[in-house]
Amino acid sequence: MEPFIEMRGIHKVYPDGTVALRGVDFRLYRGEIVGLLGENGAGKTTLMKILSGLLPPTQGEIRLEGRSVRFRNPSDALRAGIGMVHQIFTLVPPYTALENILLGQEGSALWLRKEQARPRVERLLEEVGLSIPLDVPVELLPIGVQQRVEILKVLYRGTRVLILDEPTSALTPLEVDELFKFMRRLKEDGRSIVFITHKLREVLEICDRIVVLRNGLVTGEVQADKATPELLAERMVGHAVVPRVSRSPRPPGEPILVVRDLEVMGDLGVPAVRGVSFEVRAGEIFGIAGVEGNGQSELAQALGGLRPIRRGEILLDGKPLPPLAPIEAYRQGISHIPEDRLRFGLALHFDVAENSILSRQWEALFLRGWGRLDWPRILAFAAELVQRFQVLTPGVRATARHLSGGNQQKLVVGRELSKEPRLILAVHPTRGLDVASTAYIRELLIRMRDQGKAVLLISADLDEILELSDRIAVMYEGKFLGVGPAEAFSRTEIGMLMGGILPQEQR
Ligand SMILES: Nc1ncnc2c1ncn2[C@@H]1O[C@H](COP(=O)(O)OP(=O)(O)OP(=O)(O)O)[C@@H](O)[C@H]1O
Ligand SMILES: [Mg+2]
Repeated sequence: MEPFIEMRGIHKVYPDGTVALRGVDFRLYRGEIVGLLGENGAGKTTLMKILSGLLPPTQGEIRLEGRSVRFRNPSDALRAGIGMVHQIFTLVPPYTALENILLGQEGSALWLRKEQARPRVERLLEEVGLSIPLDVPVELLPIGVQQRVEILKVLYRGTRVLILDEPTSALTPLEVDELFKFMRRLKEDGRSIVFITHKLREVLEICDRIVVLRNGLVTGEVQADKATPELLAERMVGHAVVPRVSRSPRPPGEPILVVRDLEVMGDLGVPAVRGVSFEVRAGEIFGIAGVEGNGQSELAQALGGLRPIRRGEILLDGKPLPPLAPIEAYRQGISHIPEDRLRFGLALHFDVAENSILSRQWEALFLRGWGRLDWPRILAFAAELVQRFQVLTPGVRATARHLSGGNQQKLVVGRELSKEPRLILAVHPTRGLDVASTAYIRELLIRMRDQGKAVLLISADLDEILELSDRIAVMYEGKFLGVGPAEAFSRTEIGMLMGGILPQEQR
């Protein structure tokens, strides 16, 4: 059978000299789901950006049904039926979901077409089994829902090849199931999907074939039913990996963070956090599990000084945290790995060195004389950080925007964990990280805990919560449904609480 798409001998050298791909062959047949795996910076996104017309290859050829094609831009690729949903969102924040879906289509003015197009969009939503509030500005939607808008936007163009770049990293287990169902439906329909993820379990579940990239080369290609997690991990990193972190029991110390009866408003004008009280002690990891959109983001933002509080108080080491003062929160000893690294974690147009001291630029350590930054010192600091956290970058003066998604995350995590904080606020800390980096970051969080720091972990990844937490709370509709020592919960129990279902007997 002839492949629907064939990429041959693809090379990509970025303008700054970075060699991202060094001769990649890639085929895609009709009605198949291909998983694309590889470590952070392996070249997955680059390869798919080339297929979707966003980047020209430096060398190599793309064939569509046997004929050589050249895409000058994404519209060319879309016309050929190839659409990509990006790792970094491309939505226009103040526009509604419906407007975003229609944006970029040729024809009459968007505002005129809007109402005509609505029934078609609604039908498509039903067909693919996704639900999206169409008339809310997308900036007010949780990341998981924004992701759906991105997918719908591409499908609305009638794509035959759908490229999904880490679509699940922001989704809850339930949403992932939904997405998979819908991917299977597209496949039955004869459409093809390229699925990029770092979660081996997911590739094994949904894909027909798996392609592994390492350092710009294909290092493995297997039928999914013949693959094992070990084999895939080995192909990805070049040697066997056993990513297991261990946590030994440890008596917690004094409370570092105390939150009392906290109420925080959401963007839609209703309370998102509705009277939550808890404390995080020195030397403990307190994990908050929950389906995204149940107030976790707002809670984290309030703690990090990014969102006003409506009621209640936040005490750090017994002192009230001044509201809406992120820098003050930093000064008082909070490290914050924010949920949305692109909005709150990095200054994308700044370079790696600048980003590595962001929020610390007032520290004497980085100053020379009156308010002058000590650049030699900053550069040396950044170089060390990059090395320690294995941030793949051409250098510390490279622009943060040019790093791969996972490497941007490593930069944020590295910066936040290299401070000497009292409290670490870790929100989805390993989202978008490859297997090895995930293990490394988790280990670091445990090490921080062992050094007596307080860690507040907010994660939609149940495995992460279970692996790291000493105590667990499940957040549902702005409240804690269950709080207790990690041993007190089974996986299923947490899963049920996440869905708002209380266990029969009262704990
Ligand atoms: N615009 C750019 N300019 C320069 N280098 C880039 C640019 N985009 C990506 N790179 C580099 O190309 C390499 C491959 O990056 P790519 O984004 O394709 O990786 P990836 O496999 O998608 O990684 P991740 O899992 O972290 O998303 C990396 O070394 C990255 O730093
Ligand atoms: Mg990528």
